[in-house]
Amino acid sequence: MSDNATGLSSRNRRPYKSLRQKSYIAYAALIAYAIFLSAFILYEKQVLFEQFNKVQSAYDTEARLREVDLSIRYALEAQVAALNRVFPGRGVAHARDHIRLLQDIFEEMLAGRISVRPELAGLRAAMATAYAEPTQQNLGALQRKLGRLSSDTEARLARSSKRRNALVEDFRVRSDTVATTALLLGLLGLALFGTINVLFFRRLTGDVQALRRRTDEILEGRRGVPIPVARNDELGQLIQSINHMASELEKHEEALEIERRKQFHQEKMAAIGTLAAGIAHEVGNPIAAICALVEEIKRTKLTGGCPYIDETDMCNLEMVLRHAERLRGITQEISGLSRAESDEYQLLDLNAMIRSTCRLMRYDSRWKGVELVLDLDNDLPALSAIGDQLTQVTMNLLVNGVDALEGLEGRAPTIDVSTTVTQQGICMAVRDNGCGMDKKTLTHAIDTFYTTKTTEKGTGLGLSLCQSIVKAHHGWLEIESTLGVGTIAKVFLPLDGRHDNQGTG
Ligand SMILES: Nc1ncnc2c1ncn2[C@@H]1O[C@H](COP(=O)(O)OP(=O)(O)OP(=O)(O)O)[C@@H](O)[C@H]1O
Ligand SMILES: [Mg+2]
Repeated sequence: MSDNATGLSSRNRRPYKSLRQKSYIAYAALIAYAIFLSAFILYEKQVLFEQFNKVQSAYDTEARLREVDLSIRYALEAQVAALNRVFPGRGVAHARDHIRLLQDIFEEMLAGRISVRPELAGLRAAMATAYAEPTQQNLGALQRKLGRLSSDTEARLARSSKRRNALVEDFRVRSDTVATTALLLGLLGLALFGTINVLFFRRLTGDVQALRRRTDEILEGRRGVPIPVARNDELGQLIQSINHMASELEKHEEALEIERRKQFHQEKMAAIGTLAAGIAHEVGNPIAAICALVEEIKRTKLTGGCPYIDETDMCNLEMVLRHAERLRGITQEISGLSRAESDEYQLLDLNAMIRSTCRLMRYDSRWKGVELVLDLDNDLPALSAIGDQLTQVTMNLLVNGVDALEGLEGRAPTIDVSTTVTQQGICMAVRDNGCGMDKKTLTHAIDTFYTTKTTEKGTGLGLSLCQSIVKAHHGWLEIESTLGVGTIAKVFLPLDGRHDNQGTG
């Protein structure tokens, strides 16, 4: 199956992929995309959750720090109040109560796990000193420590608040981005899948419609041009098969047409033969009567009758008789040639057949001036063949030869018919010294309907018919030709008697 006939281009020689495989691939791609999208959303959700936790913990830290700040302020106020009251006479015990209160506050702070760094150690030492000796100086030192801790906590609170704000902003931006990206990815996937779907089905329906149009064309008897196959699936295979079917149908129809025309040609020849035989028969009777009458007149004259016929008349009568006999010979040749012969293989004297065919052909006016040389092998064995068909072959070759001699100048037109026995069987050769053939003509000479002659003169069926007949006899035909020198057509017929008892027509 040629690529041209099947519509297959080299671009389309991709590995076969069925429609089912394609649907699986599309389904798998869709699932993969959904998995990717889900993984992306889950991952981002996890990241957002962690950010949320950080924000939450920042809030907690901040709340703790506020508590701490409040406690320190309270402690400071209590300390200031204590300082104001210790020495005006409220006693050491009162000061110690306050310091214990402070210790409780800080224990609570520690329980809340707020890191108040090493200052706490210094504060503890200051509290212990003030508790042991609640002097003005020691209480003052404790107050300074509390003041430093308070401003430290405030600074940390400010930092924490700033970090928390940044975290909240991060969280907001990221959640916005995630929502937008997820939405866009979803829409993009949908658009991509939808577009692929639309393109796929549009192409599919386009190809199916082209296929339907093509089958309609084939049904209507128009072969058209093959559909180019651009698919590698079941539909592509179907298109290829339809293209192949159309080209096979075309070839088949061509072969049938050739056979029909050959048949017509042969029937036409047979009809002409029958007509010629009829005419020959009709002409033969008056000729026979003329001959008989002339003979009778001659006989009467010889026996002394017909005194009014002189010598000159006798000469004329002799001439009439000669021409009439010649005419009788021609009619007999025509009758003999057109006599319906069996279309079965019979033993044939090829030389005799050639002789009678040549004799008949010579009545054609075109043979005037053509030298016909018969070089026939007398030891030629009888050949099993269909006589009618081999006569047709010989006539076709002789007509081709005489056509080629038309208008020949510079040498005597000659046709040479020879027979020889070769290793492969019998060879009959018809050689002419006519115009010969150029390369193109020689290449196509045997092709059906190939002719260089005018429509009145040639149909291009002669050599093609010869080829069919010779092939049916299990032989072959060879043509050798040189432009301007001449042509030789050789028919090889095997002697082994292989045949299936049926000819070409
Ligand atoms: N002896 C020859 N010399 C030169 N050319 C020849 C000879 N025999 C055949 N050809 C060339 O081959 C062509 C095909 O020959 P073929 O006998 O098949 O057809 P045709 O003679 O053209 O027509 P048809 O025989 O059907 O009346 C001829 O037209 C002619 O050009
Ligand atoms: Mg011919």
